[in-house]
Amino acid sequence: MIAVRALSKHFITDRGRVDVLKEINLDIRVGERIAVVGASGAGKTTLMHLLGGLDRPSSGSVLFAEKNIFHYSAQELDAFRNRTIGFVFQFHQLLPEFSALENVMMPALIGRSSAKKAEERASEILTAVGLGHRLDHKPGQLSGGEQQRVAIARSLTMSPKLLLADEPTGNLDSATSDEILALLDRLHVERDLTIIVVTHSEKVAGHMDRIIRMVDGCLCV
Ligand SMILES: Nc1ncnc2c1ncn2[C@@H]1O[C@H](COP(=O)(O)OP(=O)(O)O)[C@@H](O)[C@H]1O
Ligand SMILES: [Mg+2]
Repeated sequence: MIAVRALSKHFITDRGRVDVLKEINLDIRVGERIAVVGASGAGKTTLMHLLGGLDRPSSGSVLFAEKNIFHYSAQELDAFRNRTIGFVFQFHQLLPEFSALENVMMPALIGRSSAKKAEERASEILTAVGLGHRLDHKPGQLSGGEQQRVAIARSLTMSPKLLLADEPTGNLDSATSDEILALLDRLHVERDLTIIVVTHSEKVAGHMDRIIRMVDGCLCV
């Protein structure tokens, strides 16, 4: 599904050049669940951003179905991302003044779905993640686990093939984190979703098909 080839990224800062990813190679199969682990600063988030086409590499490629996503034009990349990839972050980044339903509708509205379709779809997905009774609640009226489930629901609105989750349970207690894990499991089975999750939790990591360790911008295989 995904082939990462000699992927490198450096940043230029006041104190000079920082090599954050060093010629990463990685192959990911359809339906695979991968945990990315490693110390803070190892380059995990940078790797996720590149996998999702949110940032550009200094060199190297990310191939989806044998096409290098960095050869797409800006519009093509936007369209690809919208269709193919769902993102979940540690801090869910929900819009506080909008309801759960409206937050989940947002990607479909941006993707030019009709409001009616977007609403039907959002309500269906929220129900699927166990929040059918919370559609009109704003993020501030939901628990941490519920907010994270809304964020996962939002990431699934466009039926992505790949879910990129950067420490999705990082600020949740262990019971709530178990709930999120069970939800990811179900989505994996029901949708054959490919999942890449950055985590500091051994439990979450142990639950995936494969664990990738990052040290100082390199993958230790
Ligand atoms: N925009 C940036 N400019 C400069 N340095 C950055 C930038 N983004 C990340 N870094 C540096 O890259 C390294 C890896 O960051 P990151 O990918 O966020 O690591 P992780 O997610 O594993 O904690 C860190 O040393 C960080 O300071
Ligand atoms: Mg990070």
